[in-house]
Amino acid sequence: MASWTDRFILEVDRGLRSIGNSVVASRSFPESASPAEGTRLTEPERRHAAALMRVNHVGEVCAQALYRAQAVATRKPELEQMFAAAAKEEADHLAWTAQRLEELGEGPSLLNPLWFAGAYALGLAAGRVGDAVSLGFVVETERQVEQHLEGHLESLPKADLRSRAVVDQMRADEIRHGAHAQSQGARELPGPVKAAMRMAAKVMTSTAYWI
Ligand SMILES: [Fe+2]
Ligand SMILES: [Fe+2]
Repeated sequence: MASWTDRFILEVDRGLRSIGNSVVASRSFPESASPAEGTRLTEPERRHAAALMRVNHVGEVCAQALYRAQAVATRKPELEQMFAAAAKEEADHLAWTAQRLEELGEGPSLLNPLWFAGAYALGLAAGRVGDAVSLGFVVETERQVEQHLEGHLESLPKADLRSRAVVDQMRADEIRHGAHAQSQGARELPGPVKAAMRMAAKVMTSTAYWI
């Protein structure tokens, strides 16, 4: 009989494999409003933009893990469907950030298996507490991601129109995801939980900038 940990490892393995093999975006790569020709990044700009896009890619790996785990954890079929649909939409973000990272000549985080497993465990934990909390977790995650992406729009090189277009579209999508989860009956998370989430995100983003 498969234990809970066996099942967890199996799910994480399956999730990571699907992420690694074939993330195909269902929407086309976001285009910048201004023409991209003639914009060249300096070497420090390229490195900084790539590091930020690696951070965003890790964030989307975590989004996959969270939503998949939350879909597994809920007992309500309509919520399961909602989480699965959200994971699918986040797959666009995953594909776009992977593409941009490659264009900038860098690779994804070496710690992705770790991030995925951690986020998956967190998603399961949130889901086990109950649907309202699980939805509240989505609302708070998306709110924090939105603020984080705003920071990236400040920090990304002005000339990197392609990265900026991706981050801009992601930001718009995350706002919508949060609002949707809110409308499904999310409960506001306690302050200390929000602070802990912020701290975990800080560890993740500052590590993924480098590896
Ligand atoms: Fe996303
Ligand atoms: Fe999202």
